[in-house]
Amino acid sequence: MNDLPRTDFSIKPTLVGRKVTLRPFLPDQDAPALRAILQDPEVGRLTGSDHGPVEPEPWNDAAEKQMRAWYGTRHEQSDRLDLAVVERASGVCVGEAVLNEWDGGNRSCSFRIALAPAGQDRGLGTEAVRLIVGYGFERLGLHRISLGVFAFNPRARRAYEKVGFVAEGVKRDALRYDGAWVDQITMSILGPEWERHRGRPAVAR
Ligand SMILES: CC(C)(COP(=O)(O)OP(=O)(O)OC[C@H]1O[C@@H](n2cnc3c(N)ncnc32)[C@H](O)[C@@H]1OP(=O)(O)O)[C@@H](O)C(=O)NCCC(=O)NCCS
Repeated sequence: MNDLPRTDFSIKPTLVGRKVTLRPFLPDQDAPALRAILQDPEVGRLTGSDHGPVEPEPWNDAAEKQMRAWYGTRHEQSDRLDLAVVERASGVCVGEAVLNEWDGGNRSCSFRIALAPAGQDRGLGTEAVRLIVGYGFERLGLHRISLGVFAFNPRARRAYEKVGFVAEGVKRDALRYDGAWVDQITMSILGPEWERHRGRPAVAR
């Protein structure tokens, strides 16, 4: 136990990869991408935020204020890690990656990620997952990181599998979307697995 890194979520690191950098939010700079995530109906569907097709709500001052208050306080959180995903080529924020629901006694937490449409399908998400999960194991000393992915989101599942997440169960009919029930697959990755493959498991290549 004593050789484990101290789990300190109050430190907000900058994690540099080949295609993306993960860094604390700069709300003024990152606002366009964060707005795009919150307003995109497809992101709302895939993350289970909506229960059917929706027209994006007209953006107004209150929504902008609420968004900035949220992202402007992420650096103050001592029990979770929220980082902006920034495309290195353009320097532009394309989304967010989050370790949350920390359970100190069990050295576990949850993970979630959302990229705005402009950031999707270019390998940025997979690399962002690898960076933050690696930080969780190597620097925060976590043992288990888990997530839920809906059955209608094979792209996300593939990205998670490429980093080493393993499907471990199904929450049946976890989401009602557009009149249909959708299963949610629980996936997890454990510290000893990460140590073996460092986010590049042979089976997923
Ligand atoms: C999920 C998400 C993080 C993935 O990041 P990304 O940058 O778009 O994905 P990547 O390009 O890194 O990798 C996607 C992989 O899925 C594959 N893929 C894409 N569409 C697919 C489909 N319909 N079925 C199976 N695999 C698919 C790609 O080919 C790629 O695999 P490969 O590298 O082996 O070819 C991002 O798309 C996103 O944020 N989407 C919107 C919100 C969301 O779904 N969040 C997750 C909720 S659980």
